[in-house]
Amino acid sequence: MIDLNALRGKPTLSGDRVRLVPLVEEHTDACYASTLDEEVRRLTGTHHRFSYEEIREWCVTRAEQDDRLDLAIIEQPGGRFVGELSLHEFDPANESAAYRIALSAIEFTGQGLGKEATRLILEYAFDRIGLHRVWLHVYAFNMRAIAVYRACGFTVEGRMRESLLWEGRRHDSLVMAVLEHDFHKPAE
Ligand SMILES: CC(C)(COP(=O)(O)OP(=O)(O)OC[C@H]1O[C@@H](n2cnc3c(N)ncnc32)[C@H](O)[C@@H]1OP(=O)(O)O)[C@@H](O)C(=O)NCCC(=O)NCCS
Repeated sequence: MIDLNALRGKPTLSGDRVRLVPLVEEHTDACYASTLDEEVRRLTGTHHRFSYEEIREWCVTRAEQDDRLDLAIIEQPGGRFVGELSLHEFDPANESAAYRIALSAIEFTGQGLGKEATRLILEYAFDRIGLHRVWLHVYAFNMRAIAVYRACGFTVEGRMRESLLWEGRRHDSLVMAVLEHDFHKPAE
């Protein structure tokens, strides 16, 4: 059973290396800067060039969304914004939602921040919101992301062939999902 208050409540979730906090207007500059990072754009398949105002509007309106959860990833200690993540496409009848994460620059990757952030939000998704299934799309070339999702219990469910056209080349994307009991399975 989904607890919609856990979704609307916009939590702060603390781990050892990262803290997840509600995405708000003060994150606009950092969010906008991340949309200009060409490698992050490639890894997320982002074709659209966002204006500063579009990003500001996005950050300002996140707190009032009651059908999705958008959190900023803050490095600990230090308090630097290092990315953002979302649970979206909520389907309460089927206790399912989609997940996306993007660290805001390549210099923040490969340090364990994304894995910790993903574990924190999945714990909240399954144990507090009451979801059964969390799914995502990832490009088949994004081996670092796939490694993180596998480590958090996701498995590949399907392949969307040539779904991305990037600089003249086509790439497949994978559908991955984690079920509540996969996430809570003791590590082998
Ligand atoms: C995807 C992302 C969230 C992962 O977070 P991260 O903090 O960089 O990842 P971590 O440091 O926690 O873990 C990376 C893991 O990938 C592994 N890895 C890195 N490059 C790899 C490669 N080429 N092949 C296989 N595994 C790889 C690392 O060894 C590590 O696993 P380990 O801890 O078992 O050694 C982050 O890199 C990111 O936001 N990238 C830019 C945007 C993006 O790709 N978003 C995802 C879109 S689906």
